[in-house]
Amino acid sequence: MAAKVKDNTKKPLLEVKNLKKYFPITKGIISRVVGQVKAVDDISFHVYPNETVGLVGESGCGKTTAGRTLLRLLEPTGGEAIFDGRDVFQLDQLELRKARRDMQIIFQDPYSSLNPRMTIEAIIGEAIQFHGIASGDERRKIVEDLLVRVGLQPSYITRYPHEFSGGQRQRIGIARALALKPKFIVCDEAVSALDVSVQAQVINLLKELQEEFNLSYLFIAHDLSVVKHISDRIAVMYLGQLVEFADCNSLFKAPRHPYTQSLLSAIPHPDPRRKKARVILEGDVPSPINPPSGCRFHTRCPACFGPCSKVVPKTIEVEPDHFVQCHLYDPEHAPKDPTVFDRLPQSVPEHSSKKKPPESLGAAAAAAPAVVDEEE
Ligand SMILES: Nc1ncnc2c1ncn2[C@@H]1O[C@H](COP(=O)(O)OP(=O)(O)O)[C@@H](O)[C@H]1O
Ligand code: SF4
Ligand SMILES: [Mg+2]
Repeated sequence: MAAKVKDNTKKPLLEVKNLKKYFPITKGIISRVVGQVKAVDDISFHVYPNETVGLVGESGCGKTTAGRTLLRLLEPTGGEAIFDGRDVFQLDQLELRKARRDMQIIFQDPYSSLNPRMTIEAIIGEAIQFHGIASGDERRKIVEDLLVRVGLQPSYITRYPHEFSGGQRQRIGIARALALKPKFIVCDEAVSALDVSVQAQVINLLKELQEEFNLSYLFIAHDLSVVKHISDRIAVMYLGQLVEFADCNSLFKAPRHPYTQSLLSAIPHPDPRRKKARVILEGDVPSPINPPSGCRFHTRCPACFGPCSKVVPKTIEVEPDHFVQCHLYDPEHAPKDPTVFDRLPQSVPEHSSKKKPPESLGAAAAAAPAVVDEEE
């Protein structure tokens, strides 16, 4: 995608620091806590005004939990979420109610996320009334305008959700999220349930609305090809942690983390004459109840070497604003044997380029292959 030029000297709208969300596992009639599901385990990232950050990873890696915890639809286990200068996790109920006007969510399932017994006017207008913004005719007018803005007929206000297609329902979900003029929207798999052509329409609508209302999005999806079309930067999540975070173009041109490379290799190329090496990740996703020691990806990583099963990898900035959590790029642990890099998934981004790593990363990082297309 053609990424917008972001003014990264601006203050972030949202700064997530060391976010953790564990779910207790209880047993017996007194609900004794016997373990924890470490759904989100120490993730940090930030979102600038008018920016879209994509959050991607396999099902169960903690994306929804992260998104919901940020909005305090789930209470955090630890960390901070500084939104517009204030830590959302420290707000009392009244302050949180006010903050929620600025932070909204669009859910994955356009069938179950709309109350079937409510009219479209009641669904979209509910929060407008709840926050005392408008009622009666004034509220109706706001709802009609919102429907028009998301590409639907104003006359639909008297209808019920079952009368609409999946794409239309998702537009209704978007109108509901927009009703309070938020600054930030978590789009949780917002287009994943839609047909590809409808997905593109809804993504285009979200982009238009972003410019018009100066919105920031956290765009959650399990599919990198979907995230690519809307994100300025992309965070890749594996088993509760962020393993790579970079500008969208940089991530697609030269993904560094073996997991990101595997995900990229799974995206079909639009040109059928171009063959690519598809990397099938072996083994199941480990349990977040008892995640693997050292690097959490080591049980499935084709490049796993010496320190991987023992030492937790640090987050390394491999080039400006491109962060990777992997020993391969850490001068302290990088492999002496350069053939380790030959085991990296040779995934196939469209415009591969062999970028020279910064000198600070040393010879090992220089040996890391940029990912190349395998053409017939
Ligand atoms: N309420 C809950 N109680 C216990 N475990 C949960 C709960 N919600 C999610 N989980 C677990 O947390 C992990 C992350 O889930 P989720 O955030 O839904 O992942 P994703 O959105 O990436 O598919 C999964 O292992 C899931 O089973
Ligand atoms: S730290 Fe080791 S196991 Fe983890 S992704 Fe990097 S090479 Fe693979
Ligand atoms: Mg989810």
